[in-house]
Amino acid sequence: MPSELTQLAPAFRAALLGWYRRHARRLPWRERPGLYPTVVSEFMLQQTQVKTVLPYFARWLEEWPDFAALAAAPEERVLRLWEGLGYYSRARNLHRLARAVAALPEPPRTPEAWRELPGVGPYTAAAITSIAFGHPAACVDGNVVRILARLTADRTAYRDSVAAAKALRPLAEALLDHTGPGDHNQAMMELGATVCVPRAPACLTCPVREFCVGARQGRPEELPRLQPRQLEDRTVVRVWCRRAGALLLHRTPEGSRRLARVHELPSAEQAGLTEATARRGPLLARKRRGITRYRITELIHELPPAALPTHAAEGLVWVQQDELDALTLSGPHRRWVRELLAG
Ligand code: ADE
Repeated sequence: MPSELTQLAPAFRAALLGWYRRHARRLPWRERPGLYPTVVSEFMLQQTQVKTVLPYFARWLEEWPDFAALAAAPEERVLRLWEGLGYYSRARNLHRLARAVAALPEPPRTPEAWRELPGVGPYTAAAITSIAFGHPAACVDGNVVRILARLTADRTAYRDSVAAAKALRPLAEALLDHTGPGDHNQAMMELGATVCVPRAPACLTCPVREFCVGARQGRPEELPRLQPRQLEDRTVVRVWCRRAGALLLHRTPEGSRRLARVHELPSAEQAGLTEATARRGPLLARKRRGITRYRITELIHELPPAALPTHAAEGLVWVQQDELDALTLSGPHRRWVRELLAG
């Protein structure tokens, strides 16, 4: 770690914490601190912004106020409440975690023990134990990487944010405030979310500007330097098929990592058809979306039930229109189905 910043660590912490106390957003998991709200919020906030999470968090805590209530919930209901947040394995992991914690005499207290639980990586383990138990573990996510790279004007070209997090972890740990690690971590998250933002950092109002070599040198928005991701184009052909008021959907099997037990419009292959056959039907919609490193074009073709193979492919279900609301659909599919049924 650069010696300049090591020596300044106490002053850095004090400036950060003073700002956090005055300017922190009032978020429900901060207003009502506790282990369970912390765990739920950290799972929801993985890859998802605060403003998207807020209504989900409120509904979740109303329905399941503690680990025991969540542990007793049916999985279908858990997935239904998660619908629209994406990355459904988080919901299933949180549910499994609640069952594991509810079965213990008391919840674990160290990051190492939390990492044994489903869906808990190094960042989440540090966030949970520092916020809920004051454990001195530094959180290093994309926001923190950005702050640290700018503070030290680190121009290393990292392969990705995981490599950058690994390299910058010692600095995060050296800066950590051991007397209040939870607030320190949340203050870093808050700074990354509201001031030290990716494209147009608000350096003029930054509470730690005097410590920031990147701001002093100019163009902090260029940091961190991460190699651009190679995007891959993909096309998915999907089938829109209706029979006597019912719609054909595909339900992802139990073991699937990303979307287990979530319903989607079937791809040609899931419907037991070749793409060429499915594309003979009229094109109802063309949708574009990005998932991780894929740029996906979805083509939704209408087909009559008679075009389907006589032996239905596995995972296909006919769902009556009035039953759709009770099922879990992945977010974009819910939108497309609504749109297509309406128009
Ligand atoms: N992102 C991850 N954890 C967070 C938290 N506790 N507050 C705000 N943003 C977050």
